[in-house]
Amino acid sequence: MLELDGKQILLGITGGIAAYKTAELVRLLRKSNAQVQVVMTRAATEFITPLTLQTLSGRTVRQDFFDPNDEASIGHIDLARWADLILIAPASADFMARLTHGLANDLLSTLCLATTAPIATAPAMNQQMWLNPATQANAKLLQERGIKLWGPDAGEQACGETGPGRMLEPSALLAHVVKQFSSQALAGRCVVLTAGPTQEPIDPVRFIGNRSSGKMGFALAHALVEAGAKVYLISGPVSLPTPPGVVRININTAAEMQQNVAEQVDKCDIFIACAAVADYRPEITASQKIKKNQDQIELILTRNPDILAEVAARAAPPFTVGFAAETERVTEYAEEKRKLKRVDMVAANLVGAKQGGFEKDENALTVLWEGGSKNLPMAKKENLARSLVTLITERYYAEKHPTKDS
Ligand SMILES: Cc1cc2nc3c(=O)[nH]c(=O)nc-3n(C[C@H](O)[C@H](O)[C@H](O)COP(=O)(O)O)c2cc1C
Repeated sequence: MLELDGKQILLGITGGIAAYKTAELVRLLRKSNAQVQVVMTRAATEFITPLTLQTLSGRTVRQDFFDPNDEASIGHIDLARWADLILIAPASADFMARLTHGLANDLLSTLCLATTAPIATAPAMNQQMWLNPATQANAKLLQERGIKLWGPDAGEQACGETGPGRMLEPSALLAHVVKQFSSQALAGRCVVLTAGPTQEPIDPVRFIGNRSSGKMGFALAHALVEAGAKVYLISGPVSLPTPPGVVRININTAAEMQQNVAEQVDKCDIFIACAAVADYRPEITASQKIKKNQDQIELILTRNPDILAEVAARAAPPFTVGFAAETERVTEYAEEKRKLKRVDMVAANLVGAKQGGFEKDENALTVLWEGGSKNLPMAKKENLARSLVTLITERYYAEKHPTKDS
C-alpha cells in the first residue's frame, strides 16, 4: 500500500514562476498513488503548459469556467465534491487575495468556495509581495478560517532577491499532503533514530567502514515524520537528502554517534538503532598517512561501545528498537540479541545474500518482541518503513506507554 492510495487531490496552479515545479509535484503525487486533477488559472498557463500537466496527471487539465464540454462531463460543483484535498501550488498573491475575499470569478476560486474539502495553499511570490501588509493580512485571515499555509520558504528568489516567498519544494509539499492524510499516531512523540554506517579512522585518509547506505534509516525517519513524530536523525556518512521535517545530526565514528545519542536520548520516547555501527575501531589512529613500505602491517582493533545496549540499560529507557543484520540464522540470532540487550523490539534482516539489505532499495524484515513476531515481506524500503512504524507504534502504546484513553 502506498502513502496516498486512492486519495483525490485537486491541484490548483496559479500564475507564479514556481508553477514550473508543479510538474515534479504531480509526478510525486502520482507516484504515491494519488489521483491528481489539475485546475489552472489563465495566468498559470503562461508559466507551464496544460499539456505537460495533462500528460503527467493522466487527466484533462481544467482551465475554463465556461467550457461547455467540461461542464457537461464533470461540472465545477462535482469537481469541488470530488476532491479529498485542494492544494493551491503555487498560490499567487492575487489568488490569495481572491480567496480571502470570497471571489468566484474563475474556475479555481469558485471550486474553493464550493468545496467542503480541506484547502492548503503554498504561497510563492517576491519577498516584498509576501511581506506586504495586504498579503500578510490575507494569509492571517485564511489561516484563521482553517485554510492551511504550507510555506513559504526563505532563500534566493527567481527575481534575484533573497527573502521569504519561495514555494516549498515538491518533496516538502508531498510530505505535507501525506501528513494531512496520515493517522498522526505519533503526534507529540519524539524519536531518536540512528542510520547509515560509521567510519573508524585508520589514518587521516583511510577508515574501516561498512556497506550500509542509510536508505532504511532515512525511509524510517520519513515514515516517522508522516506519523507525526518529532524526529532526530543521527546519521553516519551517506549521500542521501534529509527527509523534510527531520532534524539531522551528522557523525562519522561510533564514538561520535554514542555521544550524540547520549545528548539526545533523554528527550525521546522511542529510540531506534538502525545504523550499522562498526563493532571495532583501530586502537590507534595514525596521525599521518601510513606509508606503503612494509609487506604486512598489523591493525589492532578495540571494541566499540554498544549504543543500543547502553540506551536499553538506562534507568528509564525509551521504547528501544534495534536492527539485526545477519548473514545466516536471522531469527535465532536476532532473538538472542533482543534478549541479551533487553530491547523492546528487534527488526532482523538477511544481508550479504541475494535478498535485500545493504545498498538495496528493497528489503524484508522479521520483527520480534516479547511474546510476538511479524514478518514484513519484501517491499520498497519506503513502504517497509511505514509498515515498521505502524508496528512500532502499536507495540509502543501496547507495552509501555498506554494512551490516555486506554
Ligand atoms: C514573469 C512573471 C512572474 C510572476 N511571478 C509571480 C509570482 O511568483 N507570484 C505571484 O504572486 N505573482 C507573480 N506574478 C504576477 C501574477 O502572474 C499575476 O498577479 C496574475 O494576475 C496572477 O493570476 P492568478 O492568481 O489568477 O494565477 C508574475 C508575473 C509575471 C509576468
